[in-house]
Order: sequence, then C-alpha cells, then structure tokens
Amino acid sequence: MAEALQLDAALLNKYDTRGPRYTSYPAAPQFRPMEEAEYRALVQTHRANRSDPLSVYVHIPFCRTVCYYCGCNKVVTANYRRAEDYLEVLTQELALQSTLFGLRPAVDQLHLGGGTPTYLNDGDLSRLMRALDTSLALEPGETREFSIEIDPRTTDAARIRHLAALGFNRLSIGVQDFDPEVQRAINRLQGLDQTTEVIDTARQAGFRSINLDLIYGLPLQTQARFAETLERVITLRPDRLAVYSYAHLPERFKVQRQIEAADLPSSAEKLALLVMTIERLTAAGYVYIGMDHFALPDDELAVALREGSLQRNFQGYATGAGRDLLALGVSAIGRIGPAFAQNHRSVEPWAADVSLGRIPVAQGLVLDDEDLLRGEIIQALMCGRRLDVRDIERRYRIEFASHFASELERLIPLADDGLVTVDAESIEVSARGRLLLRPIAMAFDAYLHARHKTTEPRYSRVI
Ligand SMILES: C[S@@+](CC[C@H](N)C(=O)[O-])C[C@H]1O[C@@H](n2cnc3c(N)ncnc32)[C@H](O)[C@@H]1O
Ligand code: SF4
Repeated sequence: MAEALQLDAALLNKYDTRGPRYTSYPAAPQFRPMEEAEYRALVQTHRANRSDPLSVYVHIPFCRTVCYYCGCNKVVTANYRRAEDYLEVLTQELALQSTLFGLRPAVDQLHLGGGTPTYLNDGDLSRLMRALDTSLALEPGETREFSIEIDPRTTDAARIRHLAALGFNRLSIGVQDFDPEVQRAINRLQGLDQTTEVIDTARQAGFRSINLDLIYGLPLQTQARFAETLERVITLRPDRLAVYSYAHLPERFKVQRQIEAADLPSSAEKLALLVMTIERLTAAGYVYIGMDHFALPDDELAVALREGSLQRNFQGYATGAGRDLLALGVSAIGRIGPAFAQNHRSVEPWAADVSLGRIPVAQGLVLDDEDLLRGEIIQALMCGRRLDVRDIERRYRIEFASHFASELERLIPLADDGLVTVDAESIEVSARGRLLLRPIAMAFDAYLHARHKTTEPRYSRVI
C-alpha cells in the first residue's frame, strides 16, 4: 500500500526556497575544470579489468522550434545539415571514448536525450545505433533498458515502429500542457491526437514503459485548465509521469524572456497546481515516487520504491544498482566510479576537441570520501526516505552525531515542523516531508553551506 502523503500548503510555502535537484551530489555547479589527461587516467584506473555493463547517455541537442520555457541544452535550427555534422563528430567521440573502456564494453542501459533526439531522421537514427553497436556491445535481450525522449510533434507512427526495431523499449514524451492557450504562451502547439497516436503505436510496438513530461507553473495555467490536462493524461495512462515545477530563470535561459512575467501563476497558485496534481494523480492510482515523479503501482519505479532499491541519477529516479555512465555529445555528464565528467556545453569547443583527437571533457569532479558519504546520505533520504545512522557509522567509521553536528542542528526546525524524525538510530522522512525532500537533503550539502548566500539564482525553486 502506498503511504499517505500529507499536503500542507503553509508548510510547502515556508520551504519553497531554491536548491539543487540532486540528480548528482555534489550538484553540477560545483564541477571544476577537468583536463582530458585526468579523465583518461580516471577511466583507465577505474575500468581496468572490469567487465560490468555500462550505462550510456547520448545528447542530441537539436530542436525545430523553441519552447519559451525551455531550460535544456539545445540548438534550435531548421538546417538539418547541422545535425549531420553533429553526428559525424559524435561518431568520432564515440570511437575515442569507447577505446578507453576496453574492447566493445557491454551496455545494458542507453538513453538518448536532448534537445530532441527525434529531430534526427530514421536513416540517421539507424546510423547512430549502428555506430553505437560497433563500438559498444549493446545488450540484445529484453533485459536492456533503451530509452529515448520524444517530441510528438516530430514523431509519427512509422517513426515509433522504427525506434522499436532499433531496440528502444522505453519512451519519454514531452507534453507539458494540453491547453491551447497555455500552448500558445509557451510556443508549443501540440494536439492531443498527436500524443495519443504516439502512445497507442508505442504500446502496439511493445514499448515496455511510457513516460509523459508535464510542467506546472507555466504561463496562463489555472487550476481549471490544468485539471483538464491531468484528466486527459490520466485517460492516456502512461506508466510514468514527470510533473516538473517550471524553473523560470530568464537570466540564465534567454528564451524565457519571451514569457510575460504577468502571465505566470503566483506562488500560491503554483502551489495549488502542485497540490491538485498530486491529489488527482494519486486518486487515479499513481504512486508518488518523489521529487516530481509518479508511476503506476506495477511500474518498476514503484516496485523499486517499495523494495528499497530506488536510485537517483541524471534522469531523475532509476531502478537497480548504479552503473558507470559513459556520456556522449555536447553538455553530457558521465559518472565513472567516484568522478563526474561533463563535456563542453557548446557545440563548437566540443567539436574542436574531438577533431583534434581529444576527449571533449570540460569540467568535472573527483569525489572525496566526504562527498561520497554525503552523496549516499542524500540518496538514502531522497529515494528510500530513511537513513540508517548506525550503518553509515559502521561503514564510514564516523561518529554520526559529532561528524554531522551542524547538519543535525539544521534539521531541528524541519523536525519541529514534522518533516523528519531524527534519533540516534535513523533519520526518517515523514508523510509531511515527502514533498520537501530537497530542503531535507540540502541540510547535508556541504557546498551549499560553505558557499553561502549568492544573489545569483543558480538553482530552481523547490515548488
Ligand atoms: C529535453 S526535454 C524533452 C524532450 C523533447 N525536447 C520535448 O520537449 O518533447 C525534457 C523535459 O524537460 C522539461 N523542462 C524543460 N525546461 C524546463 C523548465 N524550465 N522547467 C521545468 N521543466 C523543464 C520538460 O518537461 C521537457 O519535456
Ligand atoms: S522543451 Fe524540448 S522541444 Fe522544446 S525547446 Fe526544449 S528541448 Fe526543444
């Protein structure tokens, strides 16, 4: 049985601060410049004599038109030639990277993200998959998890069948909102019929898991309008739903300046949208996984939540043990053992490095023992919603109360508000705290508290 969620608007409002989403700890703003030689040495040391399968992320940044809310790393262009050039460089990067990882390393998890991977035509998607399968041993069996982000506006039924034939078995579909007024305000006109066709075809083609992305807090959204979007979504019955809080950072993402500030819902309205979303989706049978994510009870994410094997990664939540993550393409972030490494964020320097035979890594971080310890604590709180203090003390050889004296102090007001219970044995997130995992995790973020207040909004708001 799913545990009850407690929705307390005043409390949600009180903790609506800015903070990292902890798809990694330390969060990406902490990354430092990383030399190619350092990256090569890292992979060679960590992957020597290892044959456990890799996870692979490939970033395809292109989009045909721009959505005004978008905070993703993207290149908006109608010139397909740019995508062809990009694929050529990507194939070279793949060759450079894969030789570092040994002879055709096995890959059982693959994710194509963007931008919009379906910007690529069928022929180019086939070529990309062939190139991946030449350098890497893509798992042919049903245990593989190969997923791709889809924009229904650039995907028809034939395209979905082609993706299935290429080995993809999971889809993530961008929707955001079905209301025509909202769609106009965000420059994303997308018919319900387009989305329905993609989902129906994907089911017939045997896709195992279908995710839909929505955003609350978009311009012109009201409870009545968003309620209709939710009704439509519930009828479509995706296995998973990501309902993101709109991150409005126009200083960082220039395109967001196209959005009229006056059209944005107030923070009280945004909170009401969140509360309504959770109520309607849970009433419709979805399990709240945590931080924006919902899943049907028999979906692997919901099963992992019940069994305590849920993980957090760059895609949000995931199941199973963390693999080393090989990341390809502009801005992609990989994780090799105890280190994160991110490629250049713009196409030009990324391509320039590859053309010189260099792995295009720009920044990253080698985690020290303290980072690993705090990362594990944040992971435990955000995924299992419980930290076994004694287990941490045993494995990290620390005395928790003295090592984390300031963190425990920071948790006192949260415990007073009923978000967590803290004792010598454990820290547990309560039903009231389940919607406030970010502020709870932030108590253990050493960088956030060392850096202190900056006026620059680097992180999005919690709600
Ligand atoms: C790379 S996009 C998805 C794939 C595809 N480009 C599409 O739009 O259909 C990933 C998701 O990020 C979310 N997103 C983008 N910008 C956002 C923002 N500023 N705030 C919250 N979510 C955002 C959207 O839900 C979007 O579907
Ligand atoms: S939301 Fe998707 S389609 Fe829209 S601009 Fe961003 S990456 Fe491109």
